[in-house]
Amino acid sequence: MLNLKLPWKWKECGLNSSGKKMAKIFVQVVVILCLGWWWWAIMVDAENLKYKDPKQPVSVRVKDLLGRMTLEEKIGQMVQIDRSVANATVMKNYFIGSVLSGGGSVPLPDARAQDWVDMINDFQKGSLSSRLGIPMIYGIDAVHGHNNVYNATVFPHNVGLGATRNPDLLRRIGAATALEVRATGISYTFAPCLAVCRDPRWGRCYESYSEDPKLVQNMTEIIIGLQGEPPANYRKGIPYVGGTKKVIACAKHFVGDGGTTHGINENNTVIDRHGLLGIHMPAYLDSIIKGVSSVMVSYSSWNGVKMHANRDLITRFLKGTLKFKGFVISDWEGLDRITSTPHSNYTYSVQAAISAGIDMVMVPYKYAEFIDDLKLLVKNNVVPMDRIDDAVARILSVKFTMGLFESPLGDYSLVNELGSQAHRDLARDAVRQSLVLLKNGKNDSDPLLPLSKKAPKILVVGTHADNLGYQCGGWTIAWQGFSGNNATRGTTILAAIKSTVDPSTEVVFREDPDSDFVKSNGFSYAIVVIGEAPYAETGGDSTTLTMLDPGPSIIKNVCESVKCVVVVISGRPIVMEPYISSMDALVAAWLPGTEGLGVTDALYGDHGFSGKLPRTWFKSVDQLPMNFGDRHYDPLFPLGFGLTTGSVKDIVARSTSAGTRGTPSFIAMIVATIAVCVLQVHF
Ligand code: BGC
Ligand code: BGC
Repeated sequence: MLNLKLPWKWKECGLNSSGKKMAKIFVQVVVILCLGWWWWAIMVDAENLKYKDPKQPVSVRVKDLLGRMTLEEKIGQMVQIDRSVANATVMKNYFIGSVLSGGGSVPLPDARAQDWVDMINDFQKGSLSSRLGIPMIYGIDAVHGHNNVYNATVFPHNVGLGATRNPDLLRRIGAATALEVRATGISYTFAPCLAVCRDPRWGRCYESYSEDPKLVQNMTEIIIGLQGEPPANYRKGIPYVGGTKKVIACAKHFVGDGGTTHGINENNTVIDRHGLLGIHMPAYLDSIIKGVSSVMVSYSSWNGVKMHANRDLITRFLKGTLKFKGFVISDWEGLDRITSTPHSNYTYSVQAAISAGIDMVMVPYKYAEFIDDLKLLVKNNVVPMDRIDDAVARILSVKFTMGLFESPLGDYSLVNELGSQAHRDLARDAVRQSLVLLKNGKNDSDPLLPLSKKAPKILVVGTHADNLGYQCGGWTIAWQGFSGNNATRGTTILAAIKSTVDPSTEVVFREDPDSDFVKSNGFSYAIVVIGEAPYAETGGDSTTLTMLDPGPSIIKNVCESVKCVVVVISGRPIVMEPYISSMDALVAAWLPGTEGLGVTDALYGDHGFSGKLPRTWFKSVDQLPMNFGDRHYDPLFPLGFGLTTGSVKDIVARSTSAGTRGTPSFIAMIVATIAVCVLQVHF
């Protein structure tokens, strides 16, 4: 029982001792009833909180929650911080709305899916313990599979996917990526990149599906895979995320990132409005129609105006004309870079960016400074409260739509989705479809591909033949990518060759053999794998577009001595014209990712080549920029070029059916037998 000190003197009330006892019990009962009633009232209120009720429409929940929030809580929702500065206390005390992993920002080296879920759930518990318990969203660049994560399936980079020209494949890759991302407790990916790269000197050209805006539009189908397919009656333009196996997608970088002068990263895109809308904008419209939930702003400028401060394009056009109802996120330190010396007038940058219409800010480190600056700007009526409310309402809409309030924590039961065999098989198929066959035989009647699996002795050479990191490119494990075979799991091209050829075939690997060695070993043929070393963003800007040394001398030493197929691993067309005549065959493999078997599937004819160039292949860098439709168009290989081969199986089937259509069947059998012999025992 409560031991209450009664605040008056019993004697003065004229009570005897039993009366006193009764009164004391009476008061105690009243107090307990009051406390009970108070507790009950809180509980009932909590249950009646409209924003916590999943049966309420999203707009009702948003309005209800917004009405309960303080300015600090609202601004907190607009903040995204990197995981390296996040912990449960920061999440709770600053009401942080979102956390991210920048490139290579991982909980621990070689972290398992469980380790990711542990970390993210810990941050989330901090958010849930805040006054209103608003869950945070965790974002990451899963731009070719869940590429920051050890043991994830790494798909080809976008340039390779553009070569497949297969939207259905893109949708399936999106769905697989969403599952791998969710396997680590993450609900948001900064993908797809919708850049229309108009100059391969740009270090991000491999993040672009194509120089052709139409092709980029078709590839937005990946959004449906990532976020799920909105139901038939769903209103176009409203963000959609179909539950706990799907993730928020992000169309980036709005807009004109791929059109900068000389392909210099984060530079100025000089083009009239008609050109901007015709080349760089169309894919955003497709994305919005498909329900994309977020759009990231580009570091670049349009005709001298920083996109992060461009109210006309972000608020008036994207949110107004295109009716985008999701949230707009800044790029990493994008506000800092509004001033030409980054961070030199941060308060101004905050004002310019928020006024332009940015809703969530990838700060990502100095969050207290951002919060203080924005608070001050609102208190002094520089940034109006309804701008803040618009930003927060958009963020909350997405959080409610995706069911985050109902399922805020990572789900350990999905951990085995990471790097699953089904996803690796899909990636292998994607690699196969992404390969573009540029040359096959010194003349048409003497094709080198498909290669024989039964040759007695073959040579594999080159800087990229046995290097998983090179094969994956930038944005893999580390921001700038890695070199070697240990940082994640996958199959190198060398390993793929070894497991494809007949056990009787001797496979000799030398990274950089001299020509005497090549000549004197009786090789049936050589596979030369060369290309670019990994890079990301500005690190990849190049004025020369040359292959990694000693690529050119490897090609010379090998191709002048034995029949050779050259496989180029690169994020874009690179200088190739001077070497091409010495090669028997040439394959552009882009940045295929972890599944090297996709390359051998086509080299050895288990599947045909079908990829088509998603970009113009230039003769010399002096021609750049050069895109299809240009008046001075004079490419080595034009956009859309790509030789095809049937699979060995198809070729045999075709010759057999040709036979049954009129040729006596014994002749058909002979034709088929010859076809098999020519293809399998090529030399
Ligand atoms: C890139 C974005 C990326 C972000 C987060 C920026 O540097 O431009 O594409 O999403 O970092 O890693
Ligand atoms: C981060 C990237 C980010 C880049 C921007 C790097 O340190 O890891 O995610 O895109 O900085 O400059």
